[in-house]
Amino acid sequence: MQELPRLSAQLGRRIFVKRDDLTGLAFGGNKVRQAEFLVGEALARGADTIVGGGGFAQSNHARVLAGAARAAGLEAIILLRPGQGAAAVDLRGNALVTRLLASEVRVEEALRSAPDGDRRAEVAYRREIFDSVGAELRRQGRTPYIVYGSSTGLGVMGYLAAAAEIHRQARRLAVAFSRIFVTSLGATHAGLELGAQLLAETHEVVGVAYQPAERSNAEATVAQLAADAAGLLGLPAPVGRQPRTDIAEAGRAYSAQTPRSRRALRVAADTEGLLLDPTYTAKGFASMLRWIEEGAIAEGECVLFVHTGGLPGLFARSSRDLRLQGDDPGH
Ligand SMILES: Cc1ncc(COP(=O)(O)O)c(C=O)c1O
Repeated sequence: MQELPRLSAQLGRRIFVKRDDLTGLAFGGNKVRQAEFLVGEALARGADTIVGGGGFAQSNHARVLAGAARAAGLEAIILLRPGQGAAAVDLRGNALVTRLLASEVRVEEALRSAPDGDRRAEVAYRREIFDSVGAELRRQGRTPYIVYGSSTGLGVMGYLAAAAEIHRQARRLAVAFSRIFVTSLGATHAGLELGAQLLAETHEVVGVAYQPAERSNAEATVAQLAADAAGLLGLPAPVGRQPRTDIAEAGRAYSAQTPRSRRALRVAADTEGLLLDPTYTAKGFASMLRWIEEGAIAEGECVLFVHTGGLPGLFARSSRDLRLQGDDPGH
């Protein structure tokens, strides 16, 4: 956890970052904390192969899951959703790293029409497709463990543990956050939310949508995931806290940048040398900046931005894509 001193001075609010872009394994990010539990269960069940993925070629989840499987001595079969454009075809960014780490990468035509923006529906949609790959492996005498996604009760555990870590670090730094911003429509937000409830925190967790989503549906999904995780722990579902999702930074589509997300990427780089990824964290950071600039966060308040990583995604973009020329109105 680090303070951003120049940006804090500029904006008159103390801004901290939880550097989960530095979680370590295979270029890090939020998915490492989730994979710890998913691969942990695979090991506990005696699996020899992880089957997972489900997103597009630039999926951070696929990259980290493949790395986590390998780090645990398991094979990794990654199933990808067919995409469009150069990022889907070229092996760049996450796609390159996933190809390097996985035993096998398959683009599954059946994933093409998966639902968008509803994390639990995505997981439900994948079930049959992933199970048929699992059955194929079993016929070959292998023992697969299937990861349908991180948007499950087990997937929430990574950020429940992170909430406890944030609690300890905030105490050590003697700061009390009024709000925590995190780019998430699912398990990442749910873990921080459940943690806040269990630790009786006073801060609000703002989940920031990175693709179009209906606000009430996103908030219900996060609440349900928190309840699923509580159930796994034998605890009652959280009550009294309502998850909050900011949908104003979503843009027109997944991975589509917006003028504010481009600006956030520049601001973090220019003021602090902090790198954001264009697909997720730039939108989360843009949300935090907007809340501050609109006065929703009072002068002197402390806020935390949870940097969920995704940085290999930068290398799937061009400078034109990021409008780095300097003569562009989006700059
Ligand atoms: C870099 C990054 N940030 C945030 C998220 C959001 O995670 P979720 O909506 O699953 O909590 C993801 C996952 O897709 C990601 O890769």
